[in-house]
Amino acid sequence: MDKFSQSKVTEAKNGMVFHHPTKLVFGIGKVDTLKNEIIKFGRRALFISTSDTLFKTVGLQEKIRKLRKGIQVKIFSGIKQNPSFSEIERGVEVVSTYRPDVLIAIGGGSAIDAAKAIGVGAKSRYPLIKLVKEPDLIKSSLPVIALPTTAGTGAELSRGAILTDPKTKKKMGLRSDSLIPNVAIVDPKLTLSLPPELTLYTGFDALSHAIETLVSKKSNILTNAFSEIAIKLLLENLHQVITNGKDIAARVQVSFAATLMGYNLVYSQTCLPHRIQYALASVIDISHPRGVVLIYPAWLKRVYKVTAGNKLRTLVTEKELLTFMHSIKLISRLRNFGIGVDDVSMLSNRVTGDLKVDPVYKNKNTIKEILIESI
Ligand SMILES: [Fe+2]
Repeated sequence: MDKFSQSKVTEAKNGMVFHHPTKLVFGIGKVDTLKNEIIKFGRRALFISTSDTLFKTVGLQEKIRKLRKGIQVKIFSGIKQNPSFSEIERGVEVVSTYRPDVLIAIGGGSAIDAAKAIGVGAKSRYPLIKLVKEPDLIKSSLPVIALPTTAGTGAELSRGAILTDPKTKKKMGLRSDSLIPNVAIVDPKLTLSLPPELTLYTGFDALSHAIETLVSKKSNILTNAFSEIAIKLLLENLHQVITNGKDIAARVQVSFAATLMGYNLVYSQTCLPHRIQYALASVIDISHPRGVVLIYPAWLKRVYKVTAGNKLRTLVTEKELLTFMHSIKLISRLRNFGIGVDDVSMLSNRVTGDLKVDPVYKNKNTIKEILIESI
């Protein structure tokens, strides 16, 4: 009770707006509703995925074969871990010849982000890079149905897609309400075949969203309530889904927490670990959550010292959180990736975005100090 009343007192002043256009269908076996959701948009569907074999891995091959009775299905697969502008442009070309009524993303954040970007790219006469720089030019999207096969990114509900410029390796966010998927079918059964390492890292991504959106200056009473639920569910169940991936009851809890954090990505905002991670990923080849992990201990230490950290402390202490991260082997250092003191200036200059929402950010030196401590 104390924990909850604290959220009310500290965050009521921020007020809140909650208007989420995604129809969320959550639960075991909900993937069976896919056909009904498709035909609301039409009978030509373009599936977007990382690989052809994924459908088999997550047990969807037979379902898609059945869908073909009555629905035109085309598959655009091979989306890479960090989708590039050229991949999205290829997808837009496929759309312009195939002319689907709806895009269906099956996979992790990369496949869902790709579908969202293809959806707006197909409806715009401007190149994608211009849409990144001038998001007001994004007016609409093809309908998107997202079916996550991981539990972590929140991409099935969020309003962004992270794309990589293959030349500069820079990551850029395409952001607009038009990118919010029309339907999210979150069936925890689709995550059962996710290997332990991916389960671990995507699960940590969800936990980092819960922590950062809680202490962020953009947090509000609703996102705080969501963060509290997500932190609890993830701390209680992450260990179990890593060691026993087939435990559907634990998978449900983790999927639900990760999905809730999709809302928090829209109505609150992530903090420095996410901002710094995007800079890191432009220099070293590292997955999103692995990059976030590197920054966490140094950032957490500072968070627990400021007022915003009190909200987190009532749920989990710094020591408990670090012990938890160690227990699931989620501690690493920048030097393991060849990053040293000489790289700090260059890296900190690459950090962009709204840094002031972070409770510990003062100026560029804050980033430098966190980076140095993370080496
Ligand atoms: Fe993330």
